[in-house]
Amino acid sequence: IGQEPLKVMISGAPASGKGTQCELIVQKFGLVHVSTGDLLRAEVAAGTEIGNKAKEFMNAGRLVPDEIVTAMVTTRLSREDAKQKGWLLDGYPRSLRQAESLEKLGIRPDVYIILNYNHFDCLGCISRADVDQKCIGRRLDPVTGKIYHTKNFPPETEEIKARLVTRPDDTEEKVKSRLAIYKQNAEAVSSVYSNITTEIDGNRPKEVVSNEVDSFLSQLQQDKVKGPKAE
Ligand code: AP5
Repeated sequence: IGQEPLKVMISGAPASGKGTQCELIVQKFGLVHVSTGDLLRAEVAAGTEIGNKAKEFMNAGRLVPDEIVTAMVTTRLSREDAKQKGWLLDGYPRSLRQAESLEKLGIRPDVYIILNYNHFDCLGCISRADVDQKCIGRRLDPVTGKIYHTKNFPPETEEIKARLVTRPDDTEEKVKSRLAIYKQNAEAVSSVYSNITTEIDGNRPKEVVSNEVDSFLSQLQQDKVKGPKAE
């Protein structure tokens, strides 16, 4: 009783493996996964007004206007399940303005995880080739929402394989734009969370990455349970 649930933010360049790790975090910690990319893709698929507005930006590999995304995120985070179970925010904030919107509302995570491409990552040296390889091979299962990769994680059955789809923004040209926008914004966004940042090398087998994420979050959860009261 009275124990605050975990609040986690995960960030990283396009195709750094955020969605893949989020699947595993949700399974283990039961947090509510709030992915702005997924929420926007669902709006597009449903043909809503938001979806129609967002579509042109997404398909061009550009950011959707802040007002649209911020309203979507804050509405979702204020729902009872997110308050009760805790949340995992994936793909937001992506600009300083978005981070400031959350700060103004007093919405702050316990940890800001940056999934890096490798140990020696710097914003200027994320390789285009790596990002291209991961994006261009990515496939989504529209039925389960699961993320596959033609080489790294092929689907389990022929039936799944037949229904997989490609994201319209996973072409070389659009990936280039997404990566450039990420590089422009990453430093400013992470500066807001510098005292609660943990960097994890995402360029290793996904089980290795998820073991590291898992032990980090387990520790964090234990620390929260102990809380200041126990001291
Ligand atoms: P979003 O969906 O958030 O796209 P993204 O940030 O570019 O991230 P991705 O989904 O491409 O990659 P990921 O890191 O989740 O990687 P994944 O796990 O799939 O956003 C899409 C668009 O929506 C934006 O461009 C923008 O238009 C709009 N939008 C979203 N948020 C917004 C915001 N806040 N403001 C404004 N606009 C916004 O993995 C990639 C591939 O690699 C997969 O095939 C996977 O199987 C494979 N893989 C994963 N892990 C590994 C591993 N360890 N080893 C080998 N392969 C791996």
